[in-house]
Amino acid sequence: MDIYDSVIELAKRRGFLWNSFEIYGGTAGFYDYGPLGAMLKRRIENIWRDIYVINEGYYEIEVPTIGIEDVFVASGHVGGFSDPLTECGKCHESFRADHLVEDFASNPDTLTRDELSIIIKENNIRCPDCGGELGGVYEFNLMFSTSIGPGSKRIGYLRPETAQGMFVDFPRLLRFYREKLPFGVTQIGKAYRNEISPRQGIIRLREFTQAEAEIFVDPRDKSHPRFDSIRDYTLSLYSDHNQSSGQDQVGMSLGNAVDQGIIAHQFLAYALAMTHQFLMRVGVSPERLRFRQHMKDEMAHYAIDCWDAEILSDRFGWVEIVGIADRTDYDLNAHSRVSKTDLSVYVEYDEPRIVEKVAVKPDMGKIGPAFKGKAKAVMDALKSLDAVNLSNPSSNKMISIQVDGEQVDIPPDMYKVQQVTETIHGENIVPHVIEPSFGIDRIIYAVLEHAFREEEVQGEDEMRGKDDVKGEDEGRIVLGLKSEVAPVQAAVLPLLTRKELIGPARDIESALKKKGVMVAYDDSGTIGRRYRRNDEIGTPYSITVDYDTLEDGTVTIRDRDSMKQVRSPIDTIADTVHDLVYNHTRFEDAGTPIE
Ligand code: GLY
Repeated sequence: MDIYDSVIELAKRRGFLWNSFEIYGGTAGFYDYGPLGAMLKRRIENIWRDIYVINEGYYEIEVPTIGIEDVFVASGHVGGFSDPLTECGKCHESFRADHLVEDFASNPDTLTRDELSIIIKENNIRCPDCGGELGGVYEFNLMFSTSIGPGSKRIGYLRPETAQGMFVDFPRLLRFYREKLPFGVTQIGKAYRNEISPRQGIIRLREFTQAEAEIFVDPRDKSHPRFDSIRDYTLSLYSDHNQSSGQDQVGMSLGNAVDQGIIAHQFLAYALAMTHQFLMRVGVSPERLRFRQHMKDEMAHYAIDCWDAEILSDRFGWVEIVGIADRTDYDLNAHSRVSKTDLSVYVEYDEPRIVEKVAVKPDMGKIGPAFKGKAKAVMDALKSLDAVNLSNPSSNKMISIQVDGEQVDIPPDMYKVQQVTETIHGENIVPHVIEPSFGIDRIIYAVLEHAFREEEVQGEDEMRGKDDVKGEDEGRIVLGLKSEVAPVQAAVLPLLTRKELIGPARDIESALKKKGVMVAYDDSGTIGRRYRRNDEIGTPYSITVDYDTLEDGTVTIRDRDSMKQVRSPIDTIADTVHDLVYNHTRFEDAGTPIE
């Protein structure tokens, strides 16, 4: 049993996660969050909101998880969001062809389906399940399709990323942000990918949760207004140069990385820093985290620079948990083309610019009488002509233009082509998009694995000499979750199920609830067993009510990680525990240490 198995075993047993549809035998790629898992997930999502929505000011929106076909035609998902599939001719199981050839090619995910078919044939790669012969490789689209309304006339797709909803809403968002760049928008929600044969448990789900920010920036200036605040922030960077030259990741400040052209620009570097801050806050281990740049041949079709936050996992090695990309104007241009909607922003120059240009100047005195009611439309059509592209602008001749859908011929005496000087105050640009995209389920797995530890415990004196912890002190499993994400933040444990102890314990439970602390009241089993149960679910603090409480008005607070205990006054216990959980006060200051 490796750490993955231990973590998943604990997660199932204690109510964090389990396979969906268990009583029907389950199906790969779907997981349920149980009572503790759902709470952990909400807490992690809320920390993400705190950083991106509250502190960065990127408002959150919510759009349907089903999208109409046009959206995904424009985004390129209908045409190209696929993985190469090969099927066993004998047992008919399907496999990712690029995964099967990993031992025979150094860059399997860049190979065409024909190249993959050849490698499979030449190396006699067989079905991993039954040894049968594998068929030719074809592209399998990963989107789940559905139909909208009765019949199958209108195709819909379950969204493969939350991002598209934010691009499609661009005109309204632009107005909401008073037509000023940069601005950001966020979304947390489900996305769906019909993975060919997911075999990595919670790491590769068919239905999963993304937290994405789309930050719309002026392409002419990708400097970040607050870059100086993170210039010295040092991260473990694994650049494409390091990868191609066989070097490891290196610690480097973001200022240096941008100055040396390793990270494309400040906005992207700032997004890396925010990602790191978030991951630290939720409890990813800094020693098992790096930022890996995509190699040129690996980058998504829409990106010009992309960095993945990767965590080191015991079973799967380095695993992507966040992707941070500069998606350029790819998506807005694509939606603009397909929807025939202008998705540009008018940006004013700091200083007006004087430009010389060739322009068509209509002769109002002649056009008015000649075209009467249509004269204005004719004038406008003439003025909007691109004079440079007129076949011969210097020698005026008959021009044909379209006015209200009709062809109109304008003789040379009704206009002039002239060199003019114009003052320009701004221009229309299509913003570029910086996208940090978080896989929440993988982050949850990373948090669980990095928090998981099995400890040898030698003589933990849980009850200061009381003998009901016998047999409980040989070893313990601990989830060292940060108190901000721990599903249960405090346990209240009356030493014995006696009325005189239950009363004060229940009072402490209510006082903690009023303070917004998630509390579990637990009076079953020995105190040692109850400590162990709470260690396993990551409860950072346990409060024990004992007979001393009745005499001196104090209770014991036990710290999960150090197993140290302090005596703290019962009157202020709710504030004390609240401050430990939310304000990161020091445990040593929470009461009098018990020697
Ligand atoms: N929005 C990026 C992704 O889903 O991979």
